[in-house]
Amino acid sequence: MQQVNLGMVGGGTVGSGVVHALTQNGSLMASRIGVNVALRKVAVKMFDEPRPYPIPRPLMTENWRDAVEDPNIQIVAELVGGTTLAKEIILSALRLGKPVVTANKALLSAHGEELFAAAKEHGANLHYEASVCGGIPIIKSLREGFVGNRIAALYGIVNGTCNYILTRMKLEGADFADVLADAQRMGYAETPPDLDVDGHDAAHKIGILASLAHGFWVNPKDIYVEGIRNISALDIKFAGKLGYTIKLLGIVKTFDGGKPAKKGGCSAQVSVYPTLVPNTHVLASVNYAFNAVFVHGDIVGDTLFYGRGAGKDATASAVLSDLADAALDLKFGNKHRIPPFVPHECKGAVLPIEEAVSEYFVRLQVVDRPGVLAKIATIFGELKIGISSVIQPEGHEGRSVPLIFMLHRAPNGAVLRALKKIGSLPAVEGKPVMFRVENFE
Ligand code: HSE
Repeated sequence: MQQVNLGMVGGGTVGSGVVHALTQNGSLMASRIGVNVALRKVAVKMFDEPRPYPIPRPLMTENWRDAVEDPNIQIVAELVGGTTLAKEIILSALRLGKPVVTANKALLSAHGEELFAAAKEHGANLHYEASVCGGIPIIKSLREGFVGNRIAALYGIVNGTCNYILTRMKLEGADFADVLADAQRMGYAETPPDLDVDGHDAAHKIGILASLAHGFWVNPKDIYVEGIRNISALDIKFAGKLGYTIKLLGIVKTFDGGKPAKKGGCSAQVSVYPTLVPNTHVLASVNYAFNAVFVHGDIVGDTLFYGRGAGKDATASAVLSDLADAALDLKFGNKHRIPPFVPHECKGAVLPIEEAVSEYFVRLQVVDRPGVLAKIATIFGELKIGISSVIQPEGHEGRSVPLIFMLHRAPNGAVLRALKKIGSLPAVEGKPVMFRVENFE
């Protein structure tokens, strides 16, 4: 059987996971694709660093160039993470015309445009299935499976750490800080946890998916991002009373069914924020560290992808899928795949969040006295924002009470203006809390 030689850089969690998966299922994969992926070198930081699976000592080197520049190596897997050395490794391999497989979402988010341009220039593909949602084959699905669809909407629970924390907050009625501390003790959340809990990891992934769905490179600076630090047990409780679960959702949505807008240009909302999801929607049941991506295509309709978004084995599964593609390309001399980012029907752009339209949950803390509700309702009315329901737990005149509003569809800009005005009313204590609501209509 034909053989292609693989050089891997990175022998940590993902790297050793790939070694293990290739050892376990390499011959199965070879029998399916008719070419054997032979692991020739694994560049590691230190021979003896702790790793979940062993790597045979003769395969290891401490010099990454051995795994990239050796003329016998035909495919390079970059599994070191980070955005500096990883970039150098990928560019070195591409310049040698070698296909590269990477799991590095932070690098793609920061430098994707440059890396894909280098891949094109040197006629070598850059494969990145493992960069988004670990074991869920969402890149291949968007790029190939849905090639005949306009992607009207994509909603993703793409950060397992946040989903784990939110699930426990809901089930235990616990506060964010307590669950985070516990998650860190149990090794679910990194220290520091900022990349995950502030929504940046989700933004890296959602930017990659948005770029694929809409054919233009999404600059991470254009993605509107809110994390989960400000979600309180009280908000989760009130959302529950209203029939909703709070999830950190990555959202890529057009407001015209994905068709070119009349004025020219195709714009899409690309954002990450805590969202109230109806308990009846399937995404509300995605719990703990699991990821899920819900995609609506104009031809296919609704589709759902669910699975483990991180971890040594799930990520290795995605890397093996890319290795199989790269090996098949080498076997048949194919250099062409569906390009990841070419303009579709028109030049795309990210819609400013102020123009995106959604429904809202607003929680205020107010002094319970006559006229307060009327003043707040007037401000919403003046900005053409409709109120769909109000809850005030029975209060006592003159005392502080929570006041919860559900608002009809309105532009984000109008709601932010209304909340600024409402927040400055003397009867309103503290900053208004607002979460967007997604009813998937
Ligand atoms: N830290 C990520 C998560 C996994 O919690 O989902 C890697 O992207």
